[in-house]
Amino acid sequence: MDVAIINDQMLPMSELTIPYLDRGIFFGDGVYEVIRSYYGEVFALDEHLSRFARSLKEIRIFNVDIKDVRKKVLEAFDRAEYANAKIYFHMTRGSEDRNHLPGENLKPNFFLTLSELHDDPKTKQKGIAVSTHPDWRWKRCDIKSLNLLPNVLARIEADKQGASEAILVGDDGTITEGAGSAFFAVDGKEKTVITRPLGHEILPSITRAMVFQVARNAGLSTIERTLRPQQAAGCDELFIAVTTKDIVPVTCFDGKTISGGKCGELTGKLVEEFKQFVRSQSR
Ligand SMILES: Cc1ncc(COP(=O)(O)O)c(C=O)c1O
Repeated sequence: MDVAIINDQMLPMSELTIPYLDRGIFFGDGVYEVIRSYYGEVFALDEHLSRFARSLKEIRIFNVDIKDVRKKVLEAFDRAEYANAKIYFHMTRGSEDRNHLPGENLKPNFFLTLSELHDDPKTKQKGIAVSTHPDWRWKRCDIKSLNLLPNVLARIEADKQGASEAILVGDDGTITEGAGSAFFAVDGKEKTVITRPLGHEILPSITRAMVFQVARNAGLSTIERTLRPQQAAGCDELFIAVTTKDIVPVTCFDGKTISGGKCGELTGKLVEEFKQFVRSQSR
């Protein structure tokens, strides 16, 4: 009989179900999404579902009914009745005894949590401190994989330095992205928003794409190019972008004060335009 032990209790392996035999736990063998709602409506659901479908395809989990995932997201959202919600879900390759090579005909496991999201307007004015860390992640960061150990370690280090986000720096010395956010710089004179081009080094952030749209609405141009930490530290304004917080100004970069220690003028404009954009998307 195959057995397992959970803390002090031994039980037959056959009695283990999710999550103990989940390949997500053994290997981080799965992908995830984080979605939010604004004012009682799930925001950018199609965009998140299509990124989820792409992530699944890239890690070769096939035959997932995305319509069913959509249904589950909306069911949970209706049930919880939060105007502003954070919706996390993941799918792993399935459950079985630990073996790197997955068995055939595994049934993927789906898991979702939904909680209330509290926006933080003070941080939008004050901004956050960030610190740079080596990017220890794998070579396919465009996949929203459950393997987040390098991100976690970078965040622990950032926290020790009093920073709320870790900005990751690749082996070539250029900034890739935040441990859990897209990273942007602003050239005030040129009225330009700068961010790294998409590629295997970064997640195709949904908020990043929206920042491009919002920047156009605000009359700013956008440019996709890499930045070294020193170049970023010399920029007029910096900010990060992520689904749960949209745009957050960065007012301290590796201990250097940015834009006078408060939200920069153009970043503030983007924050406001983002609000308009969200409203324009609601039915
Ligand atoms: C590494 C990384 N980059 C960027 C983002 C921002 O992505 P999105 O705008 O889709 O939330 C996230 C969000 O979790 C992330 O983990």
